[in-house]
Order: sequence, then structure tokens, then C-alpha cells
Amino acid sequence: MVGKYVTETILADAEGIARAAQILRDGGLVAVPTETVYGLAARADSDEAVARIYEAKGRPSFNPLIVHVRDAEQARELADLPHTADVLAELQWPAPLTMVVPRKENARIAHAVTAGLETVALRSPAHRVMQELLAKCEFPLAAPSANRSGYISPTTAKHVAATLDGRIELILDDGRSCRKGLESTIVAIRSDGSWEELRPGPIDLDAWHEHYWDEPYRRHVSSEKIEAPGQLASHYAPGKPVRLNAMEVASDDFMIGFGAVTGDCTLSASGSLTEAASRLYACLHKGARSEKPCIAVAPIPEQGIGIAINDRLRRAATPPD
Ligand code: TXA
Ligand code: MG
Repeated sequence: MVGKYVTETILADAEGIARAAQILRDGGLVAVPTETVYGLAARADSDEAVARIYEAKGRPSFNPLIVHVRDAEQARELADLPHTADVLAELQWPAPLTMVVPRKENARIAHAVTAGLETVALRSPAHRVMQELLAKCEFPLAAPSANRSGYISPTTAKHVAATLDGRIELILDDGRSCRKGLESTIVAIRSDGSWEELRPGPIDLDAWHEHYWDEPYRRHVSSEKIEAPGQLASHYAPGKPVRLNAMEVASDDFMIGFGAVTGDCTLSASGSLTEAASRLYACLHKGARSEKPCIAVAPIPEQGIGIAINDRLRRAATPPD
């Protein structure tokens, strides 16, 4: 234990979820599984509770948090949803889709959640545990990924405990249920209806966009001014050098394979990008724990969710400042 809390891991059954809701009500921190990664939840309407997220993660306070809501109706209490966002919330949530939209001036969310921005990032997760928890809470939940800032995101209760043990009250364990395995797609939707992808993720935006609208949208651009400040160049860092597009293993390497390229573990032996996304963080955690001083990763095709996988890998391979 590193901090001042005794962190318990309990089953995410009805009793566990009721316990989690009470801890959150009292201003505590609970790690909760979602379909993407584990989130570190606190009540979004409390300055003190939200301050504890930043403290537990060691997260810079200029980096705002995603607010998790039950549905479109709860989203409308917090934001003035532009028409396009309203339609997506009604038709596509729950989903691994986060929408950055204009915050309501009188929205009951702690100032630190939005880090002073006039927008708020909203998402309704497609996961039984997070949905049941939201149904029990009278408030929305702020929840970044449940890891120390800059480290690999967690897809199991054990991954959470690896960096947050002693810093939070509770971890809800739901087995291997973070099926998507990569953080949600983030899209900014402006009042004029225009879209901009801020973080690639599990949603195929091209397909959605074609289905719903004609106007073009801006694909993820790493601009000088970082609009999603969490999109820092170095992130998801396993604490050792990471070499990408590796076709051969050096003796120092923990090799992460894909398709025909084999290794100490593989993202997907059959070359499935969906499977690779769901296994990415587990493989990086294994590499981080291994005795080998370096990690090498096989090439991943830059298509579909491969774009999001490569985005995370590039950040994992960038040394921290
Ligand atoms: O799948 C996910 O999105 C997971 C699960 C737990 O829901 N959450 C997650 O949260 O990845 P986090 O805090 O690690 O990433 C939040 C991202 C950051 O890049 C942050 O800068 C951006 O959302 N963000 C939050 N509010 C924003 C806003 N108002 N404008 C622009 N970007 C924002
Ligand atoms: Mg994160």
C-alpha cells in the first residue's frame, strides 16, 4: 500500500454496486469497469471529490475529465446539445463515444472537471456495471482512466491496483469485461453542427458520418494548441523503451506480435484488429512487468480501429519529458 486508503476489490454484483454508490455519495473514489477501460469515478458535482481524482492520478489540473451520464436526458441537464449531438446521444448511446459540447452555464459540475473550459466532455458507457451504478447515483460521474497519469490504461481490476492501490477506496471487479479495450472516440460537436475528431477510438466515424450527414468533418489533427489536453505526446508509458513496426526480435526485447509476426505475446494471432484493440493494454502491462529492458511491437495496419491502436502505441513509444 502506498497511500492513505485501504483499497478493496469486490465483485461488481448488486451489493457491490450499492456499496460503490454509497462511497461515491460520500465523496470517495471507485474504479469502475466500462466497455473501453476501467474508469476512476467520483461524483462530478463535488469540488472535493473531483480534486481527489487529480490527486490520486497525479494528473495535471489543466487536463479536463469526461463526465459519464445515464443517457441523453441527463446529458441535457449539463450541456446545450447541438442538434447533431442530440441525435447521436438519442440514437447511438450507450457507446464508446464521447462528445465535447457547450457546457450549460448553471450545470452542476465541479469547476475542475472542465478545467475552466466552456465545453464539457460527455459519454454514456455501454457497460452493465457503469450503467447500474449511474442509475443508483443522483449525480453524474467524472471518470478518467483508472491509472496513474501517463501510465498504461487498465483493462482489469489488477491493472488498476498496480498503480492506484492505497489511493482509492474501492475497485469493482467484473472479470475481463473491457471488451473494446481502447478509450472512447472523442468528437467535438460545435453549435454550428461541425464535427472534429479529437481522439481516435472504437467508433468508425467515417461510417457514422456518411450515414447521418453530408458536411465534411475534421479528422484527428495534432495541432499546436492541444484541445484534448490528455492527448499529450507521451502517454500510456510502460516505463521502458518501446520500438514500433518491429519485424524481428532483439535479445533485449519483450516482443508483442500481431498476425504472422509472433512474440512473447500476441495482440491477435489471426490478425484481427478488434481483438488487437481489446488486448493492447494487457500486452503492454505484460511487457512492462517482464524482465526484458525493451518492448518491441509488430506493425499494425493503419485502418479502422488500427488507427486508434497506432495512436496509443506512438504515445507509449514517446519518452516522457
Ligand atoms: O473510454 C474512455 O473515454 C475512458 C472511460 C473511463 O470512459 N475515459 C477516459 O478518460 O479515457 P481520460 O480522462 O483518460 O481522457 C479524457 C480525455 C482527455 O484527453 C481530455 O483532455 C479530454 O478527454 N477532454 C475532457 N474534457 C474535454 C473538453 N471539454 N474539451 C476537450 N477535451 C476534453
Ligand atoms: Mg487516460
